Amino acid sequence: MSEEEQKKVQQTLASGWVAPAGPSIDEFEENLARRYESREVVTLNSGTSALHLALIMSGVERGDHVLVSSFTFAACANVVCYQGAIPIFIDSEGDTWNLDSKILSDYLADCDQLPKAIIVTHLFGMPAKMDEIVKVAKAYNVIVIEDAAEALGAKINEKDIGQIGDFGILSFNGNKIITTSGGGSLICTIEEKSRAIHLATQANSGKNEYDHHEVGYNYRMSNVLAGLGIAQLNRLESFVDKKRQIFDRYKGELNDYFDFLEEPTDFFSNRWLTTCTLKEERREIMALIQFLDKQNIETRRVWKPLHLHQAYRDFSFHGNGVCEEIFNKGICLPSGTGLINDQQEYVIKSIKTWFQS
Ligand SMILES: Cc1ncc(COP(=O)(O)O)c(C=O)c1O
Repeated sequence: MSEEEQKKVQQTLASGWVAPAGPSIDEFEENLARRYESREVVTLNSGTSALHLALIMSGVERGDHVLVSSFTFAACANVVCYQGAIPIFIDSEGDTWNLDSKILSDYLADCDQLPKAIIVTHLFGMPAKMDEIVKVAKAYNVIVIEDAAEALGAKINEKDIGQIGDFGILSFNGNKIITTSGGGSLICTIEEKSRAIHLATQANSGKNEYDHHEVGYNYRMSNVLAGLGIAQLNRLESFVDKKRQIFDRYKGELNDYFDFLEEPTDFFSNRWLTTCTLKEERREIMALIQFLDKQNIETRRVWKPLHLHQAYRDFSFHGNGVCEEIFNKGICLPSGTGLINDQQEYVIKSIKTWFQS
């Protein structure tokens, strides 16, 4: 957080607009929407609420099927369950770690019940192959929801991701590339924007009274946090540069020990987290994580595929083990934009010590 963020929050507080409505929300939404050619943005209190609204607006109801990348964060499956619908997990491809369009295509060709929607995550900031995924989905009339929670600033052919599918979502949670401490956004068409705001503000249809015709949600972002978002968004490009520098340095120094994902042609990753997989079969990722912990270096495993969690054990998985293999060998290295050179040097040295011991 710089002085710019503090000033903007103070200005927003001084304006008296401390509700989930106000000029900072409008400004934040306009600034975000400039990144998308013909889409609008609705700011919400989390990326999870954005995913939930996207499903509701896609018409997903009890008993419907929704395809979900297995290799992602739990929110993607949880929102399907909120609707009483059934998540069906799809494996990743090796070169982006994102939803495999070939497995998707085989599934759609064979399934007894077509899904209403697909949630595709752009994992760790690497774009999924949207052209292929959208082409397959459209052939079966399936709605595509892009989960760009981790991928603000990532692009395909110089276009921000999140606008290629029918809906996109962003997260501004504390660990994301820009943050409002907690928050998110739905990327949708102009026609869908007012419906999304209606649903996100308890679906009140009254003007000077409360009049509800359907169930609504309390999902709107606070105007105070939108102020923080405006200032953070101004710094997005510098954050992406820093994340990419961190990635390049790890890759340059640790290439002998790990495989790092390359960007496919015309893809631009925001490198939100530097992730990589062990080259050597005999090495154990948990042993490295525990060793680094002892050096006071916090690392994490990559996301555990959703189909391996107890919460989703009743739902099916379609694939051939790619995301499980990445999970077994993968690690997220310290990648905060506050990481200074000496700290990164220490991380690199410690990792080399472990491999050479
Ligand atoms: C891939 C992915 N999807 C969805 C979410 C949910 O966003 P939020 O935490 O803002 O609800 C997150 C992260 O938190 C995420 O990493």
